[in-house]
This record gives sequence, structure tokens and C-alpha cells, in this order.
Amino acid sequence: MHLVPATDAQKAERDALTYTEWGSLLTPEAYAAREHRLRAHAWSRADMRTWLLCAEDGAVLASCETFRTRSFLRDADGARQPGDSFAIASVFTEPHLRGRGHATHLMDLLAAELARRPRAHAALLFSDVGPRLYARSGYLPQPAWDWHLPPSPTPPPDVQALPRASGLGPVLARLRPPEDAFSFWPTPEQLDWHLERGRIYAEQLGRAQPPSLGAARGTDTLVWSFVAKSNTLVVLWFDARSPESAHALLDAARHEAHLAGLERVVLWEEPGLEPLLATHPHARRVARPDALPMVRPLRPEVARALEPASGLPSGLPSGLSSGLPSGLLHVPRGLWV
Ligand SMILES: CC(C)(COP(=O)(O)OP(=O)(O)OC[C@H]1O[C@@H](n2cnc3c(N)ncnc32)[C@H](O)[C@@H]1OP(=O)(O)O)[C@@H](O)C(=O)NCCC(=O)NCCS
Repeated sequence: MHLVPATDAQKAERDALTYTEWGSLLTPEAYAAREHRLRAHAWSRADMRTWLLCAEDGAVLASCETFRTRSFLRDADGARQPGDSFAIASVFTEPHLRGRGHATHLMDLLAAELARRPRAHAALLFSDVGPRLYARSGYLPQPAWDWHLPPSPTPPPDVQALPRASGLGPVLARLRPPEDAFSFWPTPEQLDWHLERGRIYAEQLGRAQPPSLGAARGTDTLVWSFVAKSNTLVVLWFDARSPESAHALLDAARHEAHLAGLERVVLWEEPGLEPLLATHPHARRVARPDALPMVRPLRPEVARALEPASGLPSGLPSGLSSGLPSGLLHVPRGLWV
């Protein structure tokens, strides 16, 4: 068995097979068009690949996709060094081929392939089938909690809307990277890939897009996107440092959900967020049943950064800490694929 990149024709064949898994709300034609359009998006064009596990006779046994994403690893002096991580999506084995270890083999060969890239840091995926399958291939699960908030007709005071017209570049420039030993960090194109999904569904289903990109309050920022499948306003990125600010930004999201006719606001919990959210009178913490973040280091330095209590090397400038207690990572929804 071997791993090969798919041709365009093979990608279209996989689309036809995966429709029943991931095509809800869409016709098969609209799903194929969605996949085509997402592959044509700037983030995908930067480095998105479809991988096939093939038998010796060339028959396709399993498939998945990878998207290159930015990540930062602190060096011995505490400086953030950029590298490449890979978000893995759409792991798929046809029903009649399941249970023979093909997905496991695909993940093992893929990790070996990705680890050969000179700047490789880590692979990241979001399991809809629990941790066991991917843990076999070295993926470590992260906690998966959501915060749900109802829509609200009342806009909060002291919050500015982030207008669609200005684009995501200035929005991303406002966000402060975590101080952790290792962190993922998106480009504006990566976040826009989520908005492109929203645009596709809005067009296909005749739905209105949320009026803004997010909300700002002082130096704090919240970026959101519309997810048709769950009829929710999903928070892609949340950078708030006080409960007052966190509550005001979430209330802006609740108001946007109201304007767009959505059922609720959903925020993925990240390490350190719970104390900011727990006092919001309408926020409810619920276990997330799917999209379990799992990370596989692709080089020893990243593995060390993810070890419990590894933190940062000694001798760092005062005030700089790993920020995370035990190998936990910041994995906001904006990193999902
Ligand atoms: C999940 C999937 C890729 C596994 O493919 P596969 O080639 O059968 O995988 P393997 O033979 O290597 O491993 C099978 C394991 O996956 C587990 N699995 C498959 N579907 C599962 C599900 N819905 N929930 C939990 N575990 C599941 C099997 O129980 C089996 O576990 P075990 O070997 O520990 O007993 C395949 O079932 C599939 O394509 N499912 C539909 C799409 C999907 O859900 N993809 C995963 C998205 S994260």
C-alpha cells in the first residue's frame, strides 16, 4: 500500500462518494460545486492536498485532505519561530472497505510524509469518531467544550462592529497570539475559508449572511461565521482579556445571531476562557459531541512543548510564561477544517 496525491479526476470521484457523509442540506451537484469552490479558495490554493491510500493495483482504499496552516514554536530564547502545521480533514473509507485498518494506515503514512517537510511542526485534526482511531497514529486529544448563548434583540453598549467591507486583514492584525510554547496561528485567508463556506450555504439556501465580520471593544476582538448546518453563529476567534469585555463581545454576537435569524451563538472553549465566561448570565457550557481536536507532533521539539508542565525553557524574559498548564493548546473554531 502507498500514499499518493489525488488527481483532479480522483478528487471529483471522492466527492461523489463522500456526499452522503458531508453533503447534508445540499444536492449532490451543489455539494460537488461546494467542494470545487472551496478548493479554488485562496487558502486551499496556498497548499491544500487530497491524499489517497492505494493498493498495489492502484485501487483507492481511503482518502483525506490536508491544509497547511501556520504555527509558532518558541526557541530556547523564547522567540517565536514560524513553521508549518497541517490540518487534516475528510478522512474517509468506503463502507465496504471499513474495519480493515485502511484509515489507520493512511494516517500513519501521512504523518511520515508530513514529517519530512523541512518546517513541519504538527498535524491537527477534528475527530467526529472519538479519540481511539487517531490515538493509534499518535494524535493526542484536547478538551472539547462549547459555550452556547441564545440570540438577543439588544445590542450591547461600547462595542464596534467589524465591517465586512474592510476584510479580515485588519481584523487579524488586532488579534494577540497566545504566549504558549507552541501555537497555531491562521492567515486572513484561512479564516476567510470559513466565511466562504458561509457564503456558499447562504447562496444555496437563500439565507442572509450576518451583517458584520465580528465585534471589537478596546483591544479585544471576536470574529464570527455563519454555519448553516447547525443554524448557528460560530465564534472563529475570541481574544478577550476581562469578563466585562468577554461578555460585551458575546452579547454583540448574540445580537448578530438575532439579526441573522440564527438559533444560537457557539463558542469553542479554549484554555483560560472558562473564568471569563462562567459569570455570563446566559452562557451554558456543554460537552461537544464531535470535532474533537487532536494534535500529532511532527518533530521532537513540538512533542516536548506538548508534554505536561513542559512550559517554556528557563531563562525567559520575566512575565513570559507558557500560559498553559499541561500540554493544552489553544484550538479555536477558526482552525477547524
Ligand atoms: C472513520 C473511518 C474513516 C474509519 O475508516 P476505517 O478504514 O474503517 O478505519 P480503521 O479500520 O483504521 O479503524 C476502524 C476504527 O474506526 C472506528 N470507527 C469507525 N466509525 C466510527 C464512529 N462513527 N464512531 C466511533 N468509532 C468509529 C471503528 O470502530 C474502528 O475502531 P477499532 O478498530 O478501534 O475497533 C470510516 O468509518 C469512515 O469513512 N466513516 C465515515 C466518515 C467519517 O466519519 N470520517 C471520520 C471523520 S473524523
